[in-house]
Amino acid sequence: MNRTALKPEADVVEGVYLCTQLDLPDLFGAAVSDQPGLRLYRPEDVPDPSRIRFALVWQPAPDAFDAYPNIELVQVIAAGVDGVLRNPSLPDHAVVTRVHDDEQAAIMAGFAAWHVVWHHRHMGNYLKAQTSATWDRQTIKTLRPPSQVTVGVLGFGLMGQAIAKAVAAMGFDVLAATRTGGDNADGITRISGDDAVQQVAARSAILINVLPLTPSTRDILNADLFARMPRGAALVQLGRGPHLVEEDLLAALDTGQIGGASLDVFRTEPLPRDHPFWSHPHVLVTPHEASVTSPKAVTDALVRSVQDIENGHHPTAAVDKTTGY
Ligand code: GLV
Repeated sequence: MNRTALKPEADVVEGVYLCTQLDLPDLFGAAVSDQPGLRLYRPEDVPDPSRIRFALVWQPAPDAFDAYPNIELVQVIAAGVDGVLRNPSLPDHAVVTRVHDDEQAAIMAGFAAWHVVWHHRHMGNYLKAQTSATWDRQTIKTLRPPSQVTVGVLGFGLMGQAIAKAVAAMGFDVLAATRTGGDNADGITRISGDDAVQQVAARSAILINVLPLTPSTRDILNADLFARMPRGAALVQLGRGPHLVEEDLLAALDTGQIGGASLDVFRTEPLPRDHPFWSHPHVLVTPHEASVTSPKAVTDALVRSVQDIENGHHPTAAVDKTTGY
């Protein structure tokens, strides 16, 4: 990164951390303080709100932007921007940028691949057998090779592509629901069109969701979709909580229509302690940690976006506020 392109110490660009859930200064403060042209404050330490030109954010409070009339840039610390785009205080003129990081995609791909193996090999049964020291070769007669198991990937951006590639490399038959289509030269079958999600789900023994959250994808993982899937299929939900109608999943698990689920994101986070997912025998819960962005990736993204703004360019990492990604 070209540090010298930022303005010198005397003319720093000032920003503010805005977040309700994480201690952003603790996570990113050290990396950001290495940047000579930037200064970031906690909201309570901002000397002059009118000088704040950018914000580094994750799940900001509904009125978080109100105090800063001159914010030009809102850098999200992650790939998903839904929580920011629907924030009522986000100024219309502010450009929203996100992190587009190959390392983050690689971490996500490994996580998804692990869950594919978990469901394909019914690893939960081995854990259960181990608690009673039972040597039970459960799958010796029934195991299907990966080439006969279809894994569907919903969403084919940076994350979806990395996941599809990793899962295809393990020999699975991979389908991807994509907005734009494309050829199938790499062994990943793209399905596009209005009912791409439904078509992919109907063929998937294991369905991985990494769609962006938009008005058209909200509640998309619902009873109707589960009913289309092959009986006993598994769901790996790595997108956003509001994609999933949680009661519909619980009902589908009860009937066996869905055989198991790996859930990393939830409608309410942290997942309430009394939520039935925690104790469900066929649900694996992780705390919205399928992937992480490193302080370096976030800082690099922030510096690039601030430079773009300073140079009068539309940042390359800007999201399209109309499509939501
Ligand atoms: C994480 O949730 C992300 O959006 O990157």
